[in-house]
This record gives sequence, structure tokens and C-alpha cells, in this order.
Amino acid sequence: MSTPSSVPVAPPLPEACAVFDTKPWRAPEIVAAEARITVPTMLAPQERQFYYWAARDWARGAGAQVDLGAFAGGSTARFAAGAQAAGHGATIHAYDRFTAKEQTKQNVLYAAGVAPFEGRDILPLAQSFLAPWAAQMRYHVGHIPDLGWPGGKIELLAVDAAKIATTTDLIAAQFFPALIPGRSLLIQQDFLHWSQPWLAAQMWRMRSAFAPVAHAPRDTVAFLCTAPVTPEIIEAGRISQASDAELLADIRAMRDALPAAWGLNARIRKTVAALRTNPGVRIAWQMQPPPAPAP
Ligand SMILES: C[S@@+](CC[C@H](N)C(=O)[O-])C[C@H]1O[C@@H](n2cnc3c(N)ncnc32)[C@H](O)[C@@H]1O
Repeated sequence: MSTPSSVPVAPPLPEACAVFDTKPWRAPEIVAAEARITVPTMLAPQERQFYYWAARDWARGAGAQVDLGAFAGGSTARFAAGAQAAGHGATIHAYDRFTAKEQTKQNVLYAAGVAPFEGRDILPLAQSFLAPWAAQMRYHVGHIPDLGWPGGKIELLAVDAAKIATTTDLIAAQFFPALIPGRSLLIQQDFLHWSQPWLAAQMWRMRSAFAPVAHAPRDTVAFLCTAPVTPEIIEAGRISQASDAELLADIRAMRDALPAAWGLNARIRKTVAALRTNPGVRIAWQMQPPPAPAP
């Protein structure tokens, strides 16, 4: 289904968004403060810095900070430490199954100095890493669409668990309506990863309520929520039933709407190539990497 033509055009960005152009999360003071957070994470350095800056300097305590796909708590810790430093007392919600395969334990946890342990359960580990912020923390353990959002406004929403197209649609329906127009950031952690081409298509379809404001390498693109996320916008944004041709058209349109200065065309080309290499696949871990482009 293509995007309905009735989707209204996004309003201009608030003046406060000029701050994103200066990349304040790269300031030495933010880089140094973030570097003191030692919780292991799969995020790249600039992504970690962005999470910390967003929680400390963008957020004002207007709503909760929600981390969908917390793993051992690395991304969550950047939110929690930032919120604590800001002093606005935001509640931090960590969602995950909180399980890890042996290979992931080795690659991420043991490599970061965690002592080897039996079994797949990483909830106790995440809780121990996040103990310094225990009073702010709320844990949601299981499959995210089964857990949903208990209610209330969300000021920061990080999505690192939209690995399946159907889950992507359910996350949008359950969490996006809680975002605050003109204030909330939707941090699409996997936006530029070739294995999840539906994310760019989703954000293009929801362009009347979301404007891209920041890119943090490797893969993160953050969007400001610019309008209430209504049932019509959720419906327009559904991508799980879209054909490959529809996704391709939406991804290309999203590419053209991203600021040219971010220089993301090659990344989006890889996403397009991945979709072509994997017709009909809508599960990230079933996607095969696309062939390398000709020199
Ligand atoms: C790439 S990892 C997240 C990394 C994390 N943000 C960090 O800072 O290290 C993705 C996480 O999403 C979780 N996840 C993926 N799909 C999920 C779902 N449907 N429900 C709950 N958790 C899910 C996985 O268990 C995994 O821990």
C-alpha cells in the first residue's frame, strides 16, 4: 500500500532545533562525561554521545525516556546518566527480552571484561550495571509488542529492537502516540543499517509527524516529533505489508529528504541493494549482505 496522499506536510522545525546543526554531542565536555560510563554497549562512540547528550541537554523531564532494546543496559545507562546529570528526574524504561546467546556474550560482554557466566539470562547483569540509577529505572522484560507502553508521555524514545517489519509496526502503534510534538526525539538506532530497510520507508510514510534532525554515526538517525501521532499517521506508516517496490520508492524518497550535508547517499544505496538482494525478506537476521558495489 503506498502512502495516502492525504498525509499532511510536516510543519517547519522549531527554532530550538538549530542546536542539532552544531552537533553538541561532539563537544569535548560531553565526550569526556560519556566516556566515564563503563556499561558495555553495542553502540558506536558517537551514538553513545548522542544518547547521553539527548538525555542531559535536550530532554527537560517532559516525559519518560524509553529504551527499546536495552541489551545489558549500555544505551539505557547513557540515558540514565544524562537524566541524572540534568537533574530533571525522568523515569528510564528499559525494554528487552534480556537474554543473550553465547556468541553475543563472548563478542560484547566478555570482550568488555564481564566474567563468563552460565545461561542466557542477562537481566541480573543489566540490573547490576544500572544499579547507580535504580531509583529512576523501570524494567520491562519480554517481547516488546506483548509488553506495550503503560501510558504517559515519552520525551526520548530509542528504537533498537525493530528487527522484524511486523514488530516495527507494532512498536509504532504502541509507543509513537505518546511522543510530544515539538519536543520528543525518536532515535532510530538502526536507521542506516542495511539489514532493516523498512525503517527508512516507515519514517518517510510518517513524515507528517517526524523530521530528521541528527545523524550519529554509525547508524543512528534521530527524528523530532513534529505533530501528534494520530491513528491515521500510524496507519500511513505501516510497512510490514508493503511490497519491495513500495519500500524501494519510500526509501529513495526518504533519502532525498535527508540533509545532503549528512552525506548518507552511499549508506542508503547499500540499504536499497540489500532489499534487492533479499526480495520479500522482512526479518533483519535473515537478510544477506548485498554484493560490494563495483569500484
Ligand atoms: C542491538 S541490541 C541492543 C543494544 C543496546 N541498545 C546496547 O546499547 O548495547 C538489540 C536488542 O533488542 C532486543 N530485542 C530485539 N527484538 C526484541 C523484541 N521483539 N522484544 C524484546 N527485545 C527485543 C534484543 O534482545 C537485543 O538485546
